[in-house]
Amino acid sequence: MITTSTDTKNTKEATKETPEAPLSRKELIDLLKEDLAREYQAIIAYVVYSQVIKGAAYMTIAAELEVHAAEELSHAITLANQIDYLGGMPGVSPKAVRTSEKAEDMLRFDLDNENETIRNYRQRVRQCEEIGEYALAEHLRRILVQEQDHQIALATALGEDIPELTHPDQRV
Ligand SMILES: [Fe+2]
Ligand SMILES: [Fe+2]
Repeated sequence: MITTSTDTKNTKEATKETPEAPLSRKELIDLLKEDLAREYQAIIAYVVYSQVIKGAAYMTIAAELEVHAAEELSHAITLANQIDYLGGMPGVSPKAVRTSEKAEDMLRFDLDNENETIRNYRQRVRQCEEIGEYALAEHLRRILVQEQDHQIALATALGEDIPELTHPDQRV
């Protein structure tokens, strides 16, 4: 069967996600609280993993994880500040932190979490801009730059390529 350019176009349109409706302030606060819970999770994971990772091959990344811990704390403070600014109450519970004795598992958990965090912040920047929260979007962009640095450090330590996370249409 001959595939025409119209067929290709239709296939592309069928897989394209429908645009999300603009968020209410309440919905934005709830999403930022989820982001904050992910930051708490990252702080705990990096504090613990940076100290318990063993093995000569992992000493450089262990020192790097300590730096990540401090950066995640600054992200958490920014998010708590912005949730308060929007009239919300920052939460106090982290998302669950996975544990393992193996260095490679710990790095894998961190990389999975960073990927999830990056996906969420990319979406959040778009959502904030849609409702005119440009300053908040700017704060999140700065956090996103550091999350991507974390992702690169972890993927490199695991000897992997940087994961492809979003459909081209969803990139920010
Ligand atoms: Fe973070
Ligand atoms: Fe991070």
